[in-house]
Amino acid sequence: MIHYFSATGNSKYVAERIGKAIGEEVCSIGKIPADITLKDNEVVGLVAPTNWLGASLLAREFMMKTHFATAQNNYFFYVATFGLLPGASGEDARRLLAGNGIALDASFSVHMPENFTPLFSVNNKKSIAKTLEKAESKIDQVIEQVKNRVKGNHTCVRLPYFMRQVMSVLLSYEQQTKRFRVDENTCIGCSLCYNTCPVQAISMKPNKDTQNRGMHPEWTSEKCAICLGCLHRCPKNAINYGGSKGHGQYLNPNTKI
Ligand SMILES: Cc1cc2nc3c(=O)[nH]c(=O)nc-3n(C[C@H](O)[C@H](O)[C@H](O)COP(=O)(O)O)c2cc1C
Ligand code: SF4
Ligand code: SF4
Repeated sequence: MIHYFSATGNSKYVAERIGKAIGEEVCSIGKIPADITLKDNEVVGLVAPTNWLGASLLAREFMMKTHFATAQNNYFFYVATFGLLPGASGEDARRLLAGNGIALDASFSVHMPENFTPLFSVNNKKSIAKTLEKAESKIDQVIEQVKNRVKGNHTCVRLPYFMRQVMSVLLSYEQQTKRFRVDENTCIGCSLCYNTCPVQAISMKPNKDTQNRGMHPEWTSEKCAICLGCLHRCPKNAINYGGSKGHGQYLNPNTKI
């Protein structure tokens, strides 16, 4: 089984490509903790975005809390999709799974378009198309490595694990939902953000403007994983986070998200 977490489709697409090539089912991370019982020889993959030089929050939770009932000759691999630098993602995954009693056999990384719009613009569609095109051969390479049950950390441009820990301190600042803003005049109250948030971190509240009787989203800080899925999926581009205004929205065009 190939599991994935994906806010904007990159990791979902990579998981689908690998799953199809090796004949394994592909499945979004669901409720955590889950009980997963493995068959002999089963390959178990997790594909997830890099967040702050390590695994994204929901992927971390999945690796730490899933109850895996292992069998004979299982092969565990992790794929970090990333926009700039996967950093310590491979080592992060290895440590998280080891803490849960699972030995990670291999980790890989695939360069995909950025979705961290507080910092980067995604308005250059040509450059995005080029990144997606280049990713295809990298995905093929990962597929071959998985088929051959290659072992080891094969993520690119690796950074020492302490860099991930330094970023975790930054994360406590970044992980603040007060940085979300919704333009109540642009928002149409469709509730898509509310319905698709993977951790139910959004509540719909009545607009303060008495002329505009609709609803708008509000974010709950303890739950939000700052995956930015809500920002990128909003049909009216009404959500901003930090400096994201004007930086555009991105969804992987090769999968349904
Ligand atoms: C909060 C956040 C932090 C991110 N941090 C990194 C990072 O440290 N390094 C990196 O290369 N990409 C980073 N990214 C970009 C994503 O890893 C990349 O675009 C990924 O492919 C998105 O996958 P998805 O479409 O499956 O959600 C970050 C994205 C977000 C939303
Ligand atoms: S998805 Fe956008 S338009 Fe729809 S409720 Fe959320 S913020 Fe408003
Ligand atoms: S509210 Fe937070 S966890 Fe939910 S989709 Fe938006 S960024 Fe992701």
